[in-house]
Amino acid sequence: MAFLVVSISALLIACGGGGSDDTETSEEATGDEITKLVAGTDATYAPMEYMDENGEIVGINIDIVNALAEELGIEIEFKNIGWEPLFPAVDNGEVDFAVSSITITEEREESYDFTDPYYIANQLILVPKDSDIESFADLKDKKVSAQINTTGHIAVKKLLGETSTNIVAAETMPLAISEMINGNADASVGDNSTVNEYIKNNPNVEVKTIEDDEFEKEYYGLMVKKGNTDVLELLNEGIKKIKENGKLAEISGFEMEE
Ligand code: ARG
Repeated sequence: MAFLVVSISALLIACGGGGSDDTETSEEATGDEITKLVAGTDATYAPMEYMDENGEIVGINIDIVNALAEELGIEIEFKNIGWEPLFPAVDNGEVDFAVSSITITEEREESYDFTDPYYIANQLILVPKDSDIESFADLKDKKVSAQINTTGHIAVKKLLGETSTNIVAAETMPLAISEMINGNADASVGDNSTVNEYIKNNPNVEVKTIEDDEFEKEYYGLMVKKGNTDVLELLNEGIKKIKENGKLAEISGFEMEE
């Protein structure tokens, strides 16, 4: 019953939006079937979303979206927007949704809608091999770099203080790591897969990682403009399908618990 009430009010909201709104991107006017969606990303986050040597946007997240799109029979156009500009791009309709290793957080849910979670991650600390840092708490009076406005940055701000000058907030994760390598930071904090990929791609750089249970488990979701139920429901349908047919687990390399 509650569900019925919700869906009816969603319908009313959808109808109340005014039929003459032609500011939509690839999404056709209300009622028409969606055949194509534009997805925005920050393609600096290997192995999740990044540019290959041909300048093409690739990665695990891209594979996941392509897999669900195939199940839905829709086309996806990927746009490399960058991390900070990605959020307004979802708001102003430049993209229909964002796929960018985006962790579903309560704070972000106030301004955006998220699909069901499809990937699990956690923060990882990267330090020089000879560092004496052993835990997250050890970062308290150290200089720490992170990609700006990511969950890593937020965790670091919580520990060091919102306005701490010991925080080096970089535009991208590779830049945050460079700051650490160049000695401008004692440690760098970011999503596990990306930190591990850095080590894999840079075997000659003397670094190590530190795990800490202080970091909460994070769940990635696709992000849409608040109230865009058409796109949200479609994407959820696709996620459900690739969870059921095993495609998601095949791409991500692990089974997602319910
Ligand atoms: N999971 C983290 C967050 O949501 C980092 C995501 C960064 N993604 C990227 N493509 N740069 O804040």
